[in-house]
Amino acid sequence: MEKKQITVIGSLNYDILLKQARLPEKGETYTVNDVTTGAGGKGGNQAVQCSKMGIETNMIGALGRDLFGDYIINQLKDNGLNVENIKRTKQSTGLGINNILSDGTIYANVVKGANFALSKEDINDIKDKLVRSKIVILQLEIPTEVTEYAIDLASKNDCFILLNAAPAKPISAQSLSKVDCLIVNESEATYYCKQKIEDIESAIFNHKKLLAKVKKLLIITLGEKGSLVFQNSEIVHVPALKVSPLDTTGAGDTFVGTFAAKLIEGVDLIEAVKIATIASSLTISKYGTQSIMPDKKEVESVYQSNKITEKYF
Ligand code: RIB
Repeated sequence: MEKKQITVIGSLNYDILLKQARLPEKGETYTVNDVTTGAGGKGGNQAVQCSKMGIETNMIGALGRDLFGDYIINQLKDNGLNVENIKRTKQSTGLGINNILSDGTIYANVVKGANFALSKEDINDIKDKLVRSKIVILQLEIPTEVTEYAIDLASKNDCFILLNAAPAKPISAQSLSKVDCLIVNESEATYYCKQKIEDIESAIFNHKKLLAKVKKLLIITLGEKGSLVFQNSEIVHVPALKVSPLDTTGAGDTFVGTFAAKLIEGVDLIEAVKIATIASSLTISKYGTQSIMPDKKEVESVYQSNKITEKYF
């Protein structure tokens, strides 16, 4: 059977994005200027992005039996996802609450909620999906032992495993060794490398230990400094587009979803990174998460009109 689906196993949150000039002082009640709400969660965002890029995508996760859960599942269905393995639990739906300051700084909080009710049994229930999935995408917003179990099962089913290790937390060396592609941002790379990674130079200097932990491919995203792709001894820098960011929430998820969608289409690795870079630049130009993520038509049209030139080291 030809494997052509993507399965995303991860978090589903209701996002509350507060736009404010500054954080409140201790004891102060601060009046927030504006708010954007909607479906989010790293898992849901990445799955929606894969689907918006035209790939048949299964979302595996957990939601509460509450209004936020009802809202999110409807949004996922409207975005064309297969949601039959999203379970509903007595825990309330997870939340993502971000303070977005005028200068673009984000303070991000997540409430675990139902995401932490996802279990190994739920992963056993999706064997049929893994058989049909070429790529399985995971993050670290569900219990780590469930992520590790899913990595193991996905690897036994010959899936290409893409781990976006966000938020950074410990994960077993055995699980990492089964990961085909690890994607981290500068703060997650700093956590895993135990060295400050903040720019191209520090990422190149410190990447080796992290690359050695995974099967073949490491991508470090560096915000406006672009991203670095490390494979064997090859190092490639893909610059970012110059845009004025409004809200970077979900930019990494857009990158991951678009990248995976392009890989499954058989696009060359560096071209997939360039297209993912374009997609992220579209996400950061608007407030919101899933609802504003770009679709295939938008991404491809902006890609055609912007030349990104990579640099090989
Ligand atoms: O990556 C952005 C996401 O992180 C938000 O949608 C929020 O819910 C958190 O999971």
